[in-house]
Amino acid sequence: MQKIAIYPGSFDPVTNGHLDIIERGLKLFDKIIVAVLHNPSKEFLFTVKERKHMIETSLKDFSDVEVDSFDGLLVDYAKKRNAQIILRGMRAVSDFEYEFQLALMNRRLNREVQTVFLMTGLRWIFTSSSIIKEAARFGGSIDGMVPPVANRKLKEKFGFV
Ligand code: PNS
Repeated sequence: MQKIAIYPGSFDPVTNGHLDIIERGLKLFDKIIVAVLHNPSKEFLFTVKERKHMIETSLKDFSDVEVDSFDGLLVDYAKKRNAQIILRGMRAVSDFEYEFQLALMNRRLNREVQTVFLMTGLRWIFTSSSIIKEAARFGGSIDGMVPPVANRKLKEKFGFV
């Protein structure tokens, strides 16, 4: 049986930390489905289409990765896609409580789906989409923290090009 992992997130926008998790996850799983959260009640800087485009562009040299979007419960989406694994990256201790809650709730909702955590690469330990957006909003350099396509899109969004 193919080991399919869902890598879910807001990806608003995708960062090099996310890409690192995907790259390393591909060594463990046969296929990774990057699932972009579509939630109209949540405010995102980028649309689902834009977020998907940035991930697709960044992953164009990788096979065995698909980029999709989902709404509703993550475990329902995992079941629909025949995925047995939810892949999440874990950064500093501050991530732990939220990730623990999420994993336990998902396990309660569907015991057939296992959450697997990969420790983030040391380089990306303080990289988050929110802090990157904050820096980019005021014209701060985010070079090397996000893939080129996201860097460009952030500059466009905040009127720096
Ligand atoms: O990148 P994020 O914002 O930390 O990702 C959070 C995400 C998308 C994994 C989480 O919000 C999610 O799975 N949302 C879908 C609804 C759901 O199933 N929630 C968990 C059980 S209540």
